[in-house]
Amino acid sequence: MRFIESWIPATLVATRDLTPSIRELLIRPESFDGATYPVGSHINVAVTIDGRPETRSYSLVGEADRGGYRIAVRRAEDTRGGSRYMWSLAPGARLSITLPASLLQIDWARRHYCLIAGGIGITPLVGAAQVLARRDADFTLHYAVPSREQAAYLDVLAPLLNERLIVHVGNEGRRLNFDNLFASLPPDALTMLCGPMRMLDAARRAWDSAGRTVSDLRYETFGSSGSLPTEGFRVRFVDRNLEIEIPSDRSLLDVLNESGCEVIADCRRGECGVCAIDIIKIDGELDHRDVFFSEPQKRANEKICACVSRARGTITVDIRHRPDAL
Ligand code: FES
Repeated sequence: MRFIESWIPATLVATRDLTPSIRELLIRPESFDGATYPVGSHINVAVTIDGRPETRSYSLVGEADRGGYRIAVRRAEDTRGGSRYMWSLAPGARLSITLPASLLQIDWARRHYCLIAGGIGITPLVGAAQVLARRDADFTLHYAVPSREQAAYLDVLAPLLNERLIVHVGNEGRRLNFDNLFASLPPDALTMLCGPMRMLDAARRAWDSAGRTVSDLRYETFGSSGSLPTEGFRVRFVDRNLEIEIPSDRSLLDVLNESGCEVIADCRRGECGVCAIDIIKIDGELDHRDVFFSEPQKRANEKICACVSRARGTITVDIRHRPDAL
């Protein structure tokens, strides 16, 4: 699957703080005609981090809005700087964005649905909940947050969903139990999840244990979330006497390409696998942050998606010709 990007000029129209650490931004492209987009779509935004041009991807919140594209950004220090840039913008700022593209395939013909959001993962699921509520579908939205004050969009979701919304608040002792949840679902239920990598890993394990159909669990995660803290690591190359540092605020993909080690990429969200490179040796630990490789492939630690995944310590890679990447 190839992701074709068309960049268009846009303006930040308004901002709204949803929680102390989550800000909503309304972005209107030039010549915006209120065009619709599929629920689960995202846009890419051109950002500048330490003077370097980079790209960040954000889910569109809710159903199509005549005012523009609505995104929500969680301010996070332990990331690569995109959220700091987005939070620095004031209404009137000029932006460059891509047209909406959808990666979260939703089968609207099911009889039962289960939506699961972890933290800022609520953003692509607001629209799905709105559509399902309008269709009076049989569904429940499980929303897991560390504390109630960090739960964005409760003001929209609570009156819309009533008892179909279940909020799992960590500091109130209400944690989401995937084993119990999946055991309670009808056999043909479609589950859609968006949350951090650790949540996704736990959900996939429980889904497998429950013996459910693999393709009935659809998910997205954020490239910024992993099992290890985001820190710098080192890369050696099997075919050359070179060692480079990947700083905590840069991706492996970007630093490799800047160093003249060309690695092709496509989605830059850990979804397509185009940027996968071979791992020869690990002096430390890998932190797979993609959703492309299966769990057994990740445990094998033979490849890494350079766009989102990271490491601790030093890894040795082989980026010579890879026929499987073409
Ligand atoms: S470019 Fe798609 S997974 Fe890295």
